[in-house]
Amino acid sequence: MERKASEMGMNRTGLMVHPVKSKETIEGAEKYGPDIPGDASLIAKERQDVSREVGGLGTVPPPNLKGMAKAAMDLLKGGRATVFVDKLGQRLGFERAGTRLYECALSKLDVFGTWAGGPSREQLEKIRLDELSHMALVKRTLEKLGADPTALTPAAELQANMSEGVPKMLADPHINLLQSLEGLLTAELVDNASWELLIELARDLGHHELAEDFQRALDVEQEHLALVRAWIAAGTRLEARVGEEAAGAPA
Ligand SMILES: [Fe+2]
Repeated sequence: MERKASEMGMNRTGLMVHPVKSKETIEGAEKYGPDIPGDASLIAKERQDVSREVGGLGTVPPPNLKGMAKAAMDLLKGGRATVFVDKLGQRLGFERAGTRLYECALSKLDVFGTWAGGPSREQLEKIRLDELSHMALVKRTLEKLGADPTALTPAAELQANMSEGVPKMLADPHINLLQSLEGLLTAELVDNASWELLIELARDLGHHELAEDFQRALDVEQEHLALVRAWIAAGTRLEARVGEEAAGAPA
């Protein structure tokens, strides 16, 4: 199916399509100005006042100490176990969402096809399963710590709220496969930075085996990132070349 990411057409959003009206608009804005007194410092003050008044993004639930194995007790030693559980909860949610992102990308692949240097079905399916196995790794880790993997931790909520545009974009029927890869790029950049931080946290807390597990996850995420970047580069450069649409340019 033919649908290019950057097609020329009747885009009317720019001022330059109507020089006379745009001149009048600018003159009008300069002449009349805002009809509300004050400036941006008022909204800044409001933001600060509200921040002081409200509470935070919920809490991390306490570990289930009942019947907890000695190994779990040992894992929880050290003052920052709560921080660790919070960040693990964040990773679990994001990796789970990551599997959904690759499912969306697979749908785009089926409709629009790929291009020379673009993703194959096998590659997208493999990465989807990698994200799923990372979610399972985090789930097992939380269980070892006596934590509830189904709890939405503050860091998980923060990240879900912040990145809600990514799955929204990938599910948008107007978006083609090349465009949808931009969302995967955002997710993979976060994946990489997040595993790096988890490795450091695990080492700080003396969980060296966990750090090794997380390092294996990071190795895989680095491959994902390199692939997504290469697919975007190949697709965008193909689309930028004139007259080569027939030679595998992204649809
Ligand atoms: Fe990934």
